[in-house]
Amino acid sequence: MDRFLIAGGEPLVGEVVVSGAKNASLPILCASLLTGETLQVSNVPRLRDVSTTVKLLRQMGVQIEHAGESVTLSAHSVERLEAPYDLVKTMRASILVLGPLLARFGEARVSLPGGCGIGARPVDQHIKGLQAMGAAIQIEQGYIIARAKRLKGARIVTDMVTVTGTENLMMAAVLADGETVLENAAREPEIVDLAEVLVAMGARIRGAGTDRIVIEGVARLGGAKHRVMPDRIETGTFLCAVAATGGDVTLRGARASTLDAVIEKLLEAGAGIESADDWVRVRVPRTSGQGRLRPVNIRTSEYPAFPTDMQAQFMALNCVAHGTSRVTETIFENRFMHVAELNRLGADIEIEGNTAIIKGADGLSGASVMATDLRASAGLVIGALIAQGETTIDRIYHLDRGYELMEKKLSALGARIRRVAGSGQS
Ligand code: UD1
Repeated sequence: MDRFLIAGGEPLVGEVVVSGAKNASLPILCASLLTGETLQVSNVPRLRDVSTTVKLLRQMGVQIEHAGESVTLSAHSVERLEAPYDLVKTMRASILVLGPLLARFGEARVSLPGGCGIGARPVDQHIKGLQAMGAAIQIEQGYIIARAKRLKGARIVTDMVTVTGTENLMMAAVLADGETVLENAAREPEIVDLAEVLVAMGARIRGAGTDRIVIEGVARLGGAKHRVMPDRIETGTFLCAVAATGGDVTLRGARASTLDAVIEKLLEAGAGIESADDWVRVRVPRTSGQGRLRPVNIRTSEYPAFPTDMQAQFMALNCVAHGTSRVTETIFENRFMHVAELNRLGADIEIEGNTAIIKGADGLSGASVMATDLRASAGLVIGALIAQGETTIDRIYHLDRGYELMEKKLSALGARIRRVAGSGQS
């Protein structure tokens, strides 16, 4: 297993180009199942979750040309209407084939994802929504078996706001008979990006980006071309890294308008931020002691509030702020696994229920730590960049799921970070 060796204490300075959004790419690639025509997607990040999605779609019979950041998909003949357990267990977002398969082929067999490191993460809302649209669904041997002659439009009110749930139901509804209304829909920018692709394919969708999405089903969809939106979580991660180490970095290709809550918190912490349509610049003077950043309290919630996917990175920043802060996680029940690892770097964090209380320290010091999930890993990278001395971060395969060329981008900004191919021990 690969690991990162990071010698911290350097400021980050320069420019970096933000990659396409992982969480927009995955549903958009799955949307190719909705048409027999060609879907051309560009700005797709080179990540493990993207390769897993490509592998999954290929296994079904989708013809795919994948070169660098462009993926061309043609699902004119799909033989296997299934997402097997061995792929779903490595990537929960595989559930996103359920809606499209059922809508176009009237049948799907998708493994239940099971729990994961950060929480139980059930998919009951996806199932409930499809049932409301007339699907017959059974769970057999760990698989969701879904059938429907043609899905019917319905009014669906989900019990909670779910991002992939909204995406799955939106993709199912575009080919359904009649109008579907998704109430309590997620408002994440990735949902708007997916809706844009679907509309370009001929779908009729109103209200994406609000909590009420109205979809008028059509009989068939055609091909389309789409450029995936920039990754707001990668952008936010780099902003936090610079705020934590000090420095001056411009993120090219970033969309600041998708990061309001994160930028607001960085300003509150004392970072200097400027932005235009397609770049964000963060500047933080390198100081120590009294000049350090201010501690900021965070409460994660659905978009447009502060994203749970930025919680670990902000916690790392708070570890060296001047004072005490509270970080409350409301989306996932077990998303504090980075706390023990940050404490190994010398942080002072205690957990009380779903709140972490962080007492800012003068600095952190290098140690061996272990990545436990995707965004926790990013928090540890930031911790290591702050720390004096060398940090080893093990199990960075978690990070490779969601960050493209992270060590190359950080090295280009002056960080001392390198990847070491692992010995295979766990
Ligand atoms: C997506 C993102 C992930 C992000 C999360 C929350 C993708 C590929 N992943 O994950 O990066 O952290 O949104 O912003 O886009 N829930 C249920 N039943 C359901 C569905 C969800 O109980 O049927 C619960 C979940 O356990 C969780 C909450 O609802 O507590 C929100 O989850 P959800 O928005 O569905 O997360 P994902 O779509 O899996």
